[in-house]
This record gives sequence, structure tokens and C-alpha cells, in this order.
Amino acid sequence: MEGMSRLLVCPPDYFSIDYEINPWMRMSNRVDPDRARAQWHELMNVLGSQAGAVLERLAPVPGLPDMVFTANAGVVVGRRAVPSRFRHPERRREEPYFEAWFQSHGYEVTRLEEGLYFEGAGDLLGVPESPQPLWFGGYRQRSEMRAYTRLGDLFECEIIPVELVDGRFYHLDTCFCPLSGGDLLYYPPAFDRYARVVIEDRVCEARRLVVAEMEALRFACNAVCIGRHVALPAGCPQTVQLLQEHGYETHAVALDEFMKAGGSAKCLTLALD
Ligand code: ARG
Repeated sequence: MEGMSRLLVCPPDYFSIDYEINPWMRMSNRVDPDRARAQWHELMNVLGSQAGAVLERLAPVPGLPDMVFTANAGVVVGRRAVPSRFRHPERRREEPYFEAWFQSHGYEVTRLEEGLYFEGAGDLLGVPESPQPLWFGGYRQRSEMRAYTRLGDLFECEIIPVELVDGRFYHLDTCFCPLSGGDLLYYPPAFDRYARVVIEDRVCEARRLVVAEMEALRFACNAVCIGRHVALPAGCPQTVQLLQEHGYETHAVALDEFMKAGGSAKCLTLALD
């Protein structure tokens, strides 16, 4: 399947820290635009040239500094797209642009009711190669649990809601990364007790790759897996070793400019298939 992955991305032309909506963001911590651009291009080089993904570019919009984080555009399953309904008004302004992209690219767009918070593939992630299609939906910090009842009906699949209890890990993709081989890279303390038990029940021990706290705090789990390739933020050597032991080819990319907004590799992409 390598070379067949399509990812939606958005260049960081207007990326900056203009507000604070998660514990990582500090308006005093200014983005270096040249560094951000170079880091983003390096990630695109890894994903496109090295891992063989097809990159679809969305035009950035002035005044929408978090639009680079296309994981939050919505979720795509087959030809159907469900655009996000952001919790914070600062990001709600991105919704029409993401929705217009899905519309103009031939997706069947289903909109959730207003006021039902759901932040797309940042919070809803599928585990591939399980006997049944199995999805996990993070809630409490950004998306709401009741969104998953609605989405499970829509996609006719089982979505297991998992509660996120640590504000630093406010989207599921900051602490949970399903990998192509059926493995799961994750950071258990970000979840409540019940969610940890459910994850352990659904993913066998040999396939659970537990990330160390120090590297979880560098967003080691915010990785992009394409076939056997995994792109992850630099500064996570234990996670790199863990992934390599499980047969993955790792690509560490410096993405610290995006950490200033509370995002890293995975947040900068949206899987389109
Ligand atoms: N500043 C953005 C926010 O707080 C970062 C989003 C990161 N996206 C993600 N999928 N984790 O919404």
C-alpha cells in the first residue's frame, strides 16, 4: 500500500501564536517563521519523497494561524467527510475553509449539528488490521463523547470513547498513535483508568508500545505512520528505538516551532484514505 496514502496539509505561511487555547501555547513564545517553514518542508520531504505519500495542499488563510493543523479539518472515511466543530471560537473560523475543501474535492460532506464539538482526526483514530474496523475517540478536552454515538451510526462502525484526563494531551493524537502493523504507540497516563483498561482489552500486550513520559511530553505519539515509515518529532530516542525494534523505519524531524502551538508531525496532516 505504500505510495497510496494521501494526506491533506496546509503550508505555515500564517502560522503564529495569536491566542492561548492549550497549555503549550504562550503568546510571548513567538514563532520564527523561517524556521517553521523549513521544519514544515522537511516533514513534507519525509512524508512525500521518503515515505511515498501524496500530499494535497490546502491554501492557508491570513488570520487563521492554526490552520496548518489539518488533522483538525475533520475526518474522512472513504468518500465521506465530516468537518470539525471546534470547541474554541478562535478555531471555529477555520471550519468553512476545511468544509469548502472537502466539497470541492468531491467528498460527500456530512455536517454535525452546531454546538456538538468534534475536532476531526485529532480525536478520532482507527486501528488498522484489527478483525473489525475499530476506532477510538478521545473526549473531554476538545471533542464530546456524544459526537461518537453520532459518528458510529454514520460510519456504521464501533467507536470506543476514551477520556483524556491531562490537559497537555488535549487531542487523542497527542498521546495515541495506531501504526500500520496493528501496533499502538501510546502514553497511558493521558487516559482515565477505564480508557486504559479498554485499550489493554482491545490491543494485545505485544502490540502496545508505551512511550516514556519525557518523550510523550515532546509529542513522540504525534507521529505519522505510512506503511513501515514513521515520521516523529526529533528528541525522542527511546521511542525511535522502540519503533525500530518493531520493524518500523523512523524519520525524526525537528518540529519545535509547531510545539509552541501544541502540535507536531501528526497534527500537520490529515489522512484522506
Ligand atoms: N493550537 C492548536 C489547538 O490547540 C493545535 C492543534 C494540534 N492538533 C492536533 N491534532 N493535536 O487547537
